[in-house]
Amino acid sequence: MRLISLLGLPFVAALASAAAVPFKGCQHKVKESIHGPPRGWSKHTSAPKHHMLELKIALPQPKFPELEQHLWEVSDPSHSRYGAHLSKEETDALMAPHPESLDIVNEWLASYGLAEESLLRSSANDWVTIRVPVSLAEQMLDTTYSVYKHAETGESIVRTTSYSLPEILHDHVDLIQPTTMFARFKAFKSTLHWTNQAQAPVLSTSSGTITGPAGNQVDASCNSSITISCLKQLYNSVAYNTSATNGNKMGLTAYLDQYANNMDLQQFFQLENPSAYGSNYTFVSVNGGLNNQSYAAAGVEANLDTQFGFGLTWPTPGTFYSTAGEPPFDPDYFTPTDTNEPYSYWLDYVLSQPSLPQTISTSYGDDEQTVPFTYADRVCAGMAALGARGVSILFSSGDSGVGDGDPNPATQMCHSNDGLNVTKFLPAFPASCPYVTAVGATVNIPETAVSFSGGGFSNYFVRPAYQEVAVLEYLTKLAPGTYEGLYAPEGRAYPDVSAQGVNFSVVYQGQTIPVDGTSCSSPTFASFVSMLNDARLTAFKSPLGFLNPFLYSAGYSALNDITMGHNPGCGTEGFNATTGWDPVSGFGTPNFEKLLALVLSLP
Ligand SMILES: *[C@@H]1O[C@H](CO)[C@@H](O)[C@H](O)[C@H]1NC(C)=O
Ligand SMILES: *[C@@H]1O[C@H](CO)[C@@H](O)[C@H](O)[C@H]1NC(C)=O
Ligand SMILES: *[C@@H]1O[C@H](CO)[C@@H](O)[C@H](O)[C@H]1NC(C)=O
Ligand SMILES: *[C@@H]1O[C@H](CO)[C@@H](O)[C@H](O)[C@H]1NC(C)=O
Ligand SMILES: *[C@@H]1O[C@H](CO)[C@@H](O)[C@H](O)[C@H]1NC(C)=O
Ligand SMILES: *[C@@H]1O[C@H](CO)[C@@H](O)[C@H](O)[C@H]1NC(C)=O
Ligand SMILES: *[C@@H]1O[C@H](CO)[C@@H](O)[C@H](O)[C@H]1NC(C)=O
Repeated sequence: MRLISLLGLPFVAALASAAAVPFKGCQHKVKESIHGPPRGWSKHTSAPKHHMLELKIALPQPKFPELEQHLWEVSDPSHSRYGAHLSKEETDALMAPHPESLDIVNEWLASYGLAEESLLRSSANDWVTIRVPVSLAEQMLDTTYSVYKHAETGESIVRTTSYSLPEILHDHVDLIQPTTMFARFKAFKSTLHWTNQAQAPVLSTSSGTITGPAGNQVDASCNSSITISCLKQLYNSVAYNTSATNGNKMGLTAYLDQYANNMDLQQFFQLENPSAYGSNYTFVSVNGGLNNQSYAAAGVEANLDTQFGFGLTWPTPGTFYSTAGEPPFDPDYFTPTDTNEPYSYWLDYVLSQPSLPQTISTSYGDDEQTVPFTYADRVCAGMAALGARGVSILFSSGDSGVGDGDPNPATQMCHSNDGLNVTKFLPAFPASCPYVTAVGATVNIPETAVSFSGGGFSNYFVRPAYQEVAVLEYLTKLAPGTYEGLYAPEGRAYPDVSAQGVNFSVVYQGQTIPVDGTSCSSPTFASFVSMLNDARLTAFKSPLGFLNPFLYSAGYSALNDITMGHNPGCGTEGFNATTGWDPVSGFGTPNFEKLLALVLSLP
């Protein structure tokens, strides 16, 4: 059914000499260009010619509309195919390029001496990866690479602002990266107040109880400091035990050399979930992702994710994916290193696996406009494939309200990178992808949307049908002309849901520290989703898969609506949390008991 990679080696070898002609004579035409690097990046030097690039070439997926149709059907509780998720072979076939595209791209690569055995292909053959020096990439793409430096972080990357391809290839290649992609995929967490008051004890001692969002009594300390026990109380899952053996799994991802320290994890378990003490998770290295267990290498984000994600869902088996990020590259020392885009590596890996965790949370992202549309579109399509496979994919919605990646609303610039340089709200990607569930943040009891909670409207993806009613209802509440020109009202709106996101008590290098961010919210919401998947598997039902069609049609009624708070940015007050869906808190936070009854009533 699916295309196996073309192993006709003699055929390819024969082309290597013969094919030089059609491409060499063919006019190069600009395939993609941007108006200059996004804010923060500036050209430093020209790129060392021997610097090795790992170029990823995306071939078109002509059957994607069919894949998307499957996704809508199997994720819609009112459809007869609800829960009939696809297999790896089925999604591979629906993501495969046309054989003609494979052939012509092979010929083009062969004309530069890149034979089949030097190519790396994704499971659906929709991506081809080659390793070439800058000098060859510049010939193939008729471009000039430069070293760009980031003003705040000092990071260096090798990129260009435009590249070209022979005209006859244009319909057979969606994109090639790294070229015009400047995204940094930051972790959406902050520990700002910790650095000011290092070692301050965070586990609150305030006693007594207060009324939580589900109407039950919860420890009063949960109003100022969040533990595993608090989240179970607040979100009404105290009475529920997950199974270790029903096949349910919880997945978390890490990028950018974030290591989850196991000593910290065990110390956290002792403090916050003693029954989980001594338990462990499966570590999966993607593209050479490491697992440095030195205390000094511990990452706050990775510790937060594993401690809360695996702590809440224990004894559900956990999987932790560590995908190698961009290694530091020092242009002044001409160090040859890879510069890559970790999401496509992660997607390549998971989509090649026959079996996957039913729930996966990711707390990384960047301004949508730093990710070229073609690349965002392909990553988003990969998320759709995961949804069709039955995986619930959750992303944190970002930590700068409606604004740019700068977490301080006062210094946010919010300039569009489209050549017009106008002020614009800057949505975050992948949260803005319509095939993921984006999670915003709340604080305190009663729960209030946090000011940093990322939310808004995609400039890339149009509003999917599942959120039409909810988002239009919100838009009619805005006074006419509100923020006109600052956002795209017809865009995919996010977040979809939210969860607590301030003062999580995380163990880091042996100390308990408070962590803030939608990075706290995504693994939290995902954990409750994982518990729901646990219940469905125990009842011999399918996992929930892509959540949004369920959330927007029925699930919202089992969430705690958040009606206070707003998310300032770009010199504005941002959007308000309101009754019903809003672009600050989505539909709100989980009420597990209610959700449980609901998901067990579904087929
Ligand atoms: C977070 O914890 C600090 C003490 O560590 C406390 O001063 C602050 O009020 C807490 N924030 C919230 C929003 O509860
Ligand atoms: C959950 O596990 C705890 C501890 O083992 C046990 O006391 C409790 O009865 C269990 N609850 C249910 C609903 O099975
Ligand atoms: C837990 O798993 C991690 C990652 O696989 C490993 O580094 C660590 O040694 C394990 N710890 C224990 C106590 O098994
Ligand atoms: C692990 O991290 C420590 C601290 O950052 C570093 O000194 C050490 O070289 C790293 N080990 C490896 C194998 O990368
Ligand atoms: C965009 O405009 C702002 C002032 O409004 C200016 O500071 C900035 O340099 C401009 N950026 C570009 C790329 O032109
Ligand atoms: C929780 O803390 C907030 C902020 O300190 C406060 O306004 C609110 O009254 C507290 N909630 C309860 C139920 O005490
Ligand atoms: C948010 O609510 C405030 C107070 O009710 C109101 O003044 C403001 O116009 C609202 N903003 C938006 C964007 O709806």
